[in-house]
Amino acid sequence: MSPTPSTAKRSHRPWQGFVVFGTAMLAVFLMGLFFASIMERRREAHHMEVLQPIAALESDPAKWRANYPRQYDSYLRTRETEAETKYGGPAFRDYLEETPANVILFAGIAFSRDYNQARGHYWARRDTLDTGRLAPDNPGTCWTCKSSDVPRVMAELGAGLVDDPENASFRERLMAGAAPFYATNFHELTPEMNHTIGCLNCHDPETMSLRITRPALVEAFERREMDIDEVSHQEMRSLVCAQCHVEYYFRGENDHLTLPWDQGTTVEDMERHFDEYEFADYTHAISGAPIIKIQHPDYELYQRGIHAYRSVSCADCHMPYKTEGGVKYSDHHLQSPLLSIDNSCAVCHRWSETEIRVRVESIQDKIKEGRERAERALALAHFDVAAAAQAGADDAELARARALLRGSQVRWDFVAAAKGMGFHAPQEAQRILTAAVELAQEARLEAGRLLAGYGYTAPVAYPAFETKEQAQALVQRFTNGDPPSLLVGGTGAHP
Ligand code: HEC
Ligand code: HEC
Ligand code: HEC
Ligand code: HEC
Repeated sequence: MSPTPSTAKRSHRPWQGFVVFGTAMLAVFLMGLFFASIMERRREAHHMEVLQPIAALESDPAKWRANYPRQYDSYLRTRETEAETKYGGPAFRDYLEETPANVILFAGIAFSRDYNQARGHYWARRDTLDTGRLAPDNPGTCWTCKSSDVPRVMAELGAGLVDDPENASFRERLMAGAAPFYATNFHELTPEMNHTIGCLNCHDPETMSLRITRPALVEAFERREMDIDEVSHQEMRSLVCAQCHVEYYFRGENDHLTLPWDQGTTVEDMERHFDEYEFADYTHAISGAPIIKIQHPDYELYQRGIHAYRSVSCADCHMPYKTEGGVKYSDHHLQSPLLSIDNSCAVCHRWSETEIRVRVESIQDKIKEGRERAERALALAHFDVAAAAQAGADDAELARARALLRGSQVRWDFVAAAKGMGFHAPQEAQRILTAAVELAQEARLEAGRLLAGYGYTAPVAYPAFETKEQAQALVQRFTNGDPPSLLVGGTGAHP
């Protein structure tokens, strides 16, 4: 084969080679410098030279800043309250105003007076003190998910209770201090709670590794014979959130914070747990049903979704990596991922930002529709059962309808109280809502049967609850023992 024209024609002058060689060497040298500087900064991010040692129980996040300014500064951004997405974001949102039916469903518990969209961690302590739901007899337990002073105070209380305080681990002191912490009055603890949720809730200040500081989660694992210290690093990236973003209840006289996970973490597993324990958060003021109030089961619902199945953690979406001057760090501005789609989702999904947003909203719209159907059916069911009581049905006769109401409401609330409008596990959320609607309608049938037995065959006179204020005034009448009559006609068949 003859050489190609270009090779054949190539002719070098001797100095050209040196210039090419020299330029190449210089380029390699500069690139070396550049990468060395990046590696240096990466090392800063990963090994994190400790400039100022952090005390073992340092609850003030500002004291951690000297070493970790990027994490601290992004963490502070949880104070932002402007952003809004279709169903989330930190902007103010009055759930009761948006859905007056919720006032009816929460008749008998403080949520019917005050129930707003949560906002960033920066506000957790403040919002706890400001909520309209506080009472003089609140136990210390109410503080446990609101402040980085909680692990500090628990460990301090625990130090006085363990056999060998000098050598006891942080975990041992923490676990020992939990019970006395819960048993202390909420308001008595307030002067100790000086900081909102902070670094100490999730990190060991010495090694900066992730650490569980909430006894209830450790105990929930223990009761299921699982060891929380054996989980993978990726699981820890969700479990630090599961310290607080879970369903819980206060168990026994000393209000011991407990996760109802003994039988598992589906809504049915928890319902079984609550039924066995005969637990109710309140007696419904309209229907008299024993109701379980579900609190943000974000972790539990997430577990049933495609992302958990694929080992995508809470932190992957809510604490995406960011890069600043070559330094990679976890964004501690915990917020709706729809406010950071590029970092949160687009790293895995090569769809456009608009496409991703539309996809999420279309999932959420469907869940919202299912929720509204359940809310409507449930509200009417509470009135039907109340009407049966007004007609003369006694507790024994009403027991089945009330049990159906309890089952319906725990399911509806499991989806409604979970954040993200069902996005974390859409199919599971829809499955649960379907059951909620079915059980509510069964309760209505049962109440209708009782009403007919007492001679009332006309439809129940449902009072209006079109606005928050109207619904609240209505609930007030039931709590005051002066309810409107729900009965129409009747044949005087009262026993
Ligand atoms: C695949 C990504 C992804 C994962 C994994 C994920 N989330 Fe979310 N999360 C979302 C999206 C999307 C929303 C909806 C945000 C909105 O409507 O603005 C959301 C909403 C939330 C919200 C409410 C935020 C707001 O502003 O309304 C909280 C709280 C939350 N998630 C906590 C968690 C927790 C805790 C976990 C882990 C147990 C988790 N998320 C796992 C994507 C994710
Ligand atoms: C120590 C308890 C605690 C831990 C741990 C915790 N959260 Fe929260 N989180 C809260 C509380 C309480 C609020 C509500 C604050 C408020 O409204 O004042 C909240 C609010 C949020 C919000 C914003 C508002 C909303 O709509 O709910 C997001 C997003 C969020 N958390 C995500 C997470 C993620 C992700 C993790 C884990 C990396 C996590 N949180 C760990 C207690 C905690
Ligand atoms: C709600 C839990 C939570 C809180 C509160 C929290 N972090 Fe983190 N932090 C995480 C998670 C999750 C990671 C990712 C860790 C991993 O994958 O190893 C992380 C990672 C880090 C890292 C390792 C480098 C990086 O950015 O990935 C540092 C340093 C850090 N956090 C500092 C802080 C500081 C300082 C504070 C307080 C201002 C704080 N964190 C508050 C959950 C938290
Ligand atoms: C770490 C990677 C990762 C991140 C980050 C991530 N996802 Fe995913 N996502 C997946 C995987 C894996 C699947 C499952 C795909 C499969 O198995 O077919 C999935 C599935 C989905 C689906 C399809 C669900 C269904 O059942 O149809 C949607 C929608 C989705 N993700 C949206 C999001 C959004 C929105 C975000 C950001 C808030 C996000 N994802 C963040 C990896 C990720």
